[in-house]
Amino acid sequence: MKIILLGPPGAGKGTHAQKLVNDFNVPQISTGDILRKAIREETEVGKQAKTYIDQGQLVPDFVVIEIVRQRLNEGDCQNGYILDGFPRTIVQAEKLKEFAEIDAVINLVLSDEAIINRLSGRRVCSTCGGTYHVSLLNGKEHCEKCGEKLIQREDDKEETIKKRLNVYNVQTAPLIEHYKKINILHDVDCSGTIEQNHKAVLEALKK
Ligand code: AP5
Repeated sequence: MKIILLGPPGAGKGTHAQKLVNDFNVPQISTGDILRKAIREETEVGKQAKTYIDQGQLVPDFVVIEIVRQRLNEGDCQNGYILDGFPRTIVQAEKLKEFAEIDAVINLVLSDEAIINRLSGRRVCSTCGGTYHVSLLNGKEHCEKCGEKLIQREDDKEETIKKRLNVYNVQTAPLIEHYKKINILHDVDCSGTIEQNHKAVLEALKK
């Protein structure tokens, strides 16, 4: 199963990718996680990416395309994968076609108001990437999976969230029409609970 999770920042791509990994036993390929790891490790790619991510802008296509091309060549991707955060531009989608055949695109749909609420309340584990929301943490400050301290992402400040939404509308939203035209896109309303939305994603994939 080769799936793309599409949707605005905060719609739940990472949350549902982690669930689909368990359902289908295929890896989650999150370009955001790969870039944040590169930043932590201060690699050349990390140094280039940091400026863009901190400003809520997209990292240049050629950088991200190469990362994904190499990652999809690895052994664990041969039976499928969940692409979380890629492609994000028409150029990326066109390039992806050259090295991958996608089965389904799930378009996670959520209002701007809900997005701002979800992102400003998001807490992440800086070690394993586990993702939580303050409203569901009951005051806990450590990751359930690895015990490390949870933090707020730098780009989850309200001003940067608004910039990311704008970038999404201009550069990423055109992918919806792009994938509709080839009949592999399924819209999923993500305003419910995580479990309700997960069920809706699985239903959409059955189609
Ligand atoms: P990336 O990390 O991909 O950020 P994003 O697309 O903005 O998406 P997010 O991770 O913010 O949100 P999400 O949809 O995964 O939502 P989540 O599941 O966490 O990319 C970061 C940056 O890297 C980009 O801005 C760009 O600079 C760069 N980049 C990455 N890929 C790139 C590419 N292809 N090209 C160029 N640049 C690229 O959920 C959000 C919150 O809501 C969480 O707290 C979660 O617990 C909570 N939540 C989820 N569902 C529910 C629910 N149903 N009810 C209540 N809370 C919920």
